[in-house]
Amino acid sequence: MATKKRVGIIFGGRSPEHDVSLRSARSVLAALDTKKYTPVLIGIDRLGTWLDAAESRTLLETGKAPKRKQDLMPKLDLKKIDVVFPVLHGSFGEDGIMQGFLKLVGLPFVGPGVLGSAMGMDKDVTKRILAHAGIAVSPGIVVRKEELAGLSFARVKKQLGLPLFIKPANAGSSVGVSKAKNEKDFADAVAMAFRFDSKILIESAIDGREIECAVLGNEDPIVAIPGEIIPGEEFYSYDDKYASSSASSVEIPANIPKATLREIKETAVLAYKALCLEGLSRVDFFYTRDGKLLINEVNTIPGFTSISMYPKMWEATGMPMQELVSRLLEAALSRHEKESGLATTM
Ligand SMILES: Nc1ncnc2c1ncn2[C@@H]1O[C@H](COP(=O)(O)OP(=O)(O)O)[C@@H](O)[C@H]1O
Ligand SMILES: [Mg+2]
Repeated sequence: MATKKRVGIIFGGRSPEHDVSLRSARSVLAALDTKKYTPVLIGIDRLGTWLDAAESRTLLETGKAPKRKQDLMPKLDLKKIDVVFPVLHGSFGEDGIMQGFLKLVGLPFVGPGVLGSAMGMDKDVTKRILAHAGIAVSPGIVVRKEELAGLSFARVKKQLGLPLFIKPANAGSSVGVSKAKNEKDFADAVAMAFRFDSKILIESAIDGREIECAVLGNEDPIVAIPGEIIPGEEFYSYDDKYASSSASSVEIPANIPKATLREIKETAVLAYKALCLEGLSRVDFFYTRDGKLLINEVNTIPGFTSISMYPKMWEATGMPMQELVSRLLEAALSRHEKESGLATTM
């Protein structure tokens, strides 16, 4: 029998989505096919300190890490790991930083490489690449912190109408995202978004349904049946996503015309390729009242919690979570093997 591959599951980390990462990692661990893989838990605390095996287990199980002085040096025993599943959301995990580190030390990992991760994390860059590929995105503007003094509500309102959505360029799980209907909301929303990033997006609110599409693979990606998110609040907020009291619901498959489902799948693959994505991503759409499709954003390490859309859409397509995790690990290993074959000398 072939020896089992040892899978480094990295979780936690220095992003506002630390807690979501713990929940995702628990689901990934529970779904790991232990006939083929042996898990190696690698926790990172909120300040970025890498934990040992016992501390990592405690963090995963209780959400608590020992109090320590911050120490950013990665502690990874390369001899003990064959492939990594970075179950990290947001900055320092999903944005190319962890991916760059893993490339540097020569470990295969699940999810897009440095470029795809970095572009997919930045909503401004994502939209520019998509627009260049001919894919519709929400009308909006980008504001950097140093441009804040020149930002005028009246001008934004004239250009984009009301209501508006304001969000950090680099964030996730709706952290820092608000809807603004008037000047007072607008000022608060802008200040809130700037807490999480020095670059923010201001967009026209799109009047439409939210349809999500799961993509998996490298050169020849496959796509699951799209699903719909029905927010329980005014928009799909952090609490709406994760609180047990949330009134949001999902519908898989999304109850929309067959031809539109097909168009969503095709557009998702186009976006995936345009953004240099590999491994996996979830591509999130708006389907407007007048029947148009826009891409809102992509998530290169989408949620893997027990209630998350990415695994649910695959399940509805006939791929249970255990098989999904195995396929993701296989994609990571095969990409690594291909890249290892590339010339490094002339
Ligand atoms: N332009 C927009 N129009 C309408 N709703 C929006 C818009 N932008 C964001 N939203 C709402 O806010 C939620 C979170 O925003 P999103 O851009 O997806 O950021 P995140 O990466 O945090 O998920 C979306 O799921 C949607 O409900
Ligand atoms: Mg989103």
